[in-house]
Amino acid sequence: MIEIRQLSATEGRRHLADLATVLLDCVEGGASVSFMAPFPRAAAEAFFDNAIQGVEQGDRILLAAFADSQLVGTVQIVLATPPNQPHRADVAKLLVMSSARGQGIAARLMEKVEEASREAGRTLLVLDTVTGSTAERLYARLGWTPVGSPTTLCSPMGGRAPPPSSLSSFSFKDGARAGTGFPGPW
Ligand SMILES: CC(C)(COP(=O)(O)OP(=O)(O)OC[C@H]1O[C@@H](n2cnc3c(N)ncnc32)[C@H](O)[C@@H]1OP(=O)(O)O)[C@@H](O)C(=O)NCCC(=O)NCCS
Repeated sequence: MIEIRQLSATEGRRHLADLATVLLDCVEGGASVSFMAPFPRAAAEAFFDNAIQGVEQGDRILLAAFADSQLVGTVQIVLATPPNQPHRADVAKLLVMSSARGQGIAARLMEKVEEASREAGRTLLVLDTVTGSTAERLYARLGWTPVGSPTTLCSPMGGRAPPPSSLSSFSFKDGARAGTGFPGPW
């Protein structure tokens, strides 16, 4: 059974090792998620420790997916936007263990992202991903609008040099638009 939950800082700390394991699995699998291989466990734990401090400060929402009580996926909503963007949040670090993929866990996490963002009063969500990736297909399927692809924004494939065709795509979802179920417009 798949369960998607918002984690408090205390729960995040309890699951710190599992969150780090998911990130390590993704980076080792070549995912372009900010980090370069080789990526030590201590760095993965430090990343989530910092994210959990953000949860404590109200700057971040941390979601997790559990399959039969085992943490197999996660995503974050970054609420720390400039004062003139109180309606916006950034979606970051959508990660699912390679062993748990292809079951709709990421889609469930992204549904929860919208619900939690709505509850936090954020109507405009922004993210970026690797052009042509599974994640890009997922976001398109879930109604995200692509806005462009700066060339070689970052190195894909766990830090190996990006081929010239590697692009990052930015997408947004504007809940203040009619029919999306978000409150607004501001
Ligand atoms: C991108 C990522 C999060 C997707 O996770 P996931 O849980 O496998 O995603 P989903 O299961 O919702 O969708 C993945 C695929 O499985 C398919 N799928 C979903 N449910 C399914 C089911 N019940 N049966 C068969 N296939 C299914 C989807 O249609 C999709 O197919 P596609 O790749 O042809 O579009 C995962 O691949 C990952 O963690 N990658 C590494 C990190 C990364 O790149 N993150 C994105 C950062 S922007």
